[in-house]
Amino acid sequence: MSLTDDIDRLRTDLSAAIAAAADEAALDAVRVSALGKKGSVSALLASLGTMAPEDRRSAGPAINGLKNEVAGLIEAKGSDLRAKALDARLKSERLDITLPVTRPTTATGRIHPISQVWDEITAIFSDMGFTIAEGPDIETDWYNFTALNFPEGHPAREMHDTFFLQPGADGTRKVLRTHTSPVQIRAMKQGNDKPAAPYLTGAVEPPIRIIAPGRTYRHDSDQTHTPMFHQVEGLVIDKSSHIGQLRWVLEEFLKAFFEVDGVKLRFRPSFFPFTEPSMEVDVQCDRSGAEVKIGQGSDWLEILGCGMVHANVLRNCGLDPDVYQGFAWGMGIDRIAMLKYGMNDLRAFFDADKRWLDHYGFRAFDMPTLFGGLSS
Ligand code: DAH
Repeated sequence: MSLTDDIDRLRTDLSAAIAAAADEAALDAVRVSALGKKGSVSALLASLGTMAPEDRRSAGPAINGLKNEVAGLIEAKGSDLRAKALDARLKSERLDITLPVTRPTTATGRIHPISQVWDEITAIFSDMGFTIAEGPDIETDWYNFTALNFPEGHPAREMHDTFFLQPGADGTRKVLRTHTSPVQIRAMKQGNDKPAAPYLTGAVEPPIRIIAPGRTYRHDSDQTHTPMFHQVEGLVIDKSSHIGQLRWVLEEFLKAFFEVDGVKLRFRPSFFPFTEPSMEVDVQCDRSGAEVKIGQGSDWLEILGCGMVHANVLRNCGLDPDVYQGFAWGMGIDRIAMLKYGMNDLRAFFDADKRWLDHYGFRAFDMPTLFGGLSS
């Protein structure tokens, strides 16, 4: 058989094999069988070395021509196969861009109004130089009552509708704190919570400026009371603290919190065992419309209790009332949240109703700051 026959036969066989290759792997197998080291075309090329020079002159171009032709066919078939494979993939992986987009949890989740208002309160008081103090929800009778100048058997203890825990080994019963005022005691004594006397040790050197937001508990439930609710306590102790400063702090807080230019406050005499004198504070408001507007109108709304810290309380915390004096206040967080954001049933705060949260809740990135605007 002549070389030309060999070349023709290989051309026919290889062209058919290339055309028949169903995928890139099959095509590559054909390439190896022809152009690989031991391939049929490579074998022909190798045979050039054994030819007489005059034969080689015509055989060389013929074999190389076959080689280039086969390489060209493989290349063309390869790009054809790749295009087909891509087509098939595009068909099978098609995206339906008309499907609704799933929103991330940061877009759908909501911050509860209590958490938001809690953050607003801490932003305002931090800006005024107060630090945030905390105490436990389960409190001893001493911190919740005795240290705050509620004598044993005093009727004010009954007014608190206290939840008592089972008595401990020593017979004393702890309580769910009925107010955040015990945190005042902890702030003055710096958490030195020895349950027994003497209490007259371990006081913190004033000045003290704290607020204490927290959960509080009373056995009570109706439209404006829930067994668990929130208060924020404020305490300032120094050598010359006075009611004028108390009034200024409260005015500045209420203006910032309700985001109004001015508020009028009305101080009424009241009674709390831990302050002397004690006062209740009403804030000016307008109740003529559907919602209560703070800082305008001619109505008054009771908003907090306050007073000058009682000398007995200072003494109970190891501070000399002849040297130090101070003021304190306590305010319902839920109540001011309801007033600011127009929610009228306190119980809804604790129902975990998603529709309510979607309506009254805040977006995760609505961080209250004084410079960015509290509720914007
Ligand atoms: N602890 C009081 C309450 O729960 C509120 C209160 C009134 C706190 C006067 C104070 C204060 O610090 O000075 O009703």
